[in-house]
Amino acid sequence: MSLSGTLMKPKEKTDSLDVIPTHVAIIMDGNGRWALSRGLPRMAGHRAGTENLRSIIQACIEFGIRYLTIYAFSTENWGRPPTEVQGLMKLFESVIDRELQELHDQGVQLRHIGRLDGLKPAFRQKVLQALEYTCDNDRLILNIAFNYGGRDEIVCTIQRIIEDGVKADEVTTDLVKRYLFTSGVPDPDLIIRTAGELRGSNFLIWQGAYSEWYFPPVYWPDFDKEQLRLALDEYSHRERRYGCLAGVKD
Ligand code: IPE
Ligand code: IPE
Ligand code: MG
Repeated sequence: MSLSGTLMKPKEKTDSLDVIPTHVAIIMDGNGRWALSRGLPRMAGHRAGTENLRSIIQACIEFGIRYLTIYAFSTENWGRPPTEVQGLMKLFESVIDRELQELHDQGVQLRHIGRLDGLKPAFRQKVLQALEYTCDNDRLILNIAFNYGGRDEIVCTIQRIIEDGVKADEVTTDLVKRYLFTSGVPDPDLIIRTAGELRGSNFLIWQGAYSEWYFPPVYWPDFDKEQLRLALDEYSHRERRYGCLAGVKD
């Protein structure tokens, strides 16, 4: 018996995207391999990745996605060679300079998840100004996970709960949610990881508890609007049960 033919019964396929996820999160992986496969330095891949991000943001707006979270730099990425880390920091700064006005004009609200305290003061200031500048926009909420780690987020959450003097029996799932970096943002419905690795790499480990995962076999700079459409199409045929039984009521 084949698993796909019997145990897993996807919803019947149609051409339309009848269920658009509210929140899509993306692990933008594979920039380095994209560059190496073209005989280019890894930084060329990171630059191509930022170019691609611009078109995926546009595509998300067109598809009617409300929240997009992107994994741009993890707490573990500090462990890369200093030249790559410095190159990435410079690139992110220049992306803010270059893209902020356009993002604002498109109605994108920028948010940051992660720790800003590990960044150089001038860079931190630039990020804070960008968040402030776009804070009234609501066409697309773009959460940028930068210097972000899921474990670090949980540690930070526990620290703040303790600092606020919350009693043990007042700690609930809802309370923890309110202390996370993503407070007020719905959990991701769909998490996409490009470039073929089948792991989460410390991304949204609390919020992703019931997310649907999708692993397109392309490097991030090659993940285009058509690839996103395929991901959304696949998502719209998934059956989300949250531990219950579909269609069974008392
Ligand atoms: C993802 O691409 C971008 C960052 C982690 C900043 P990678 O740099 O991880 O690319 P690969 O996985 O080495 O190809
Ligand atoms: C995850 O990719 C982090 C980002 C995309 C920012 P990595 O390339 O750092 O993850 P691993 O090392 O393959 O797990
Ligand atoms: Mg990688």
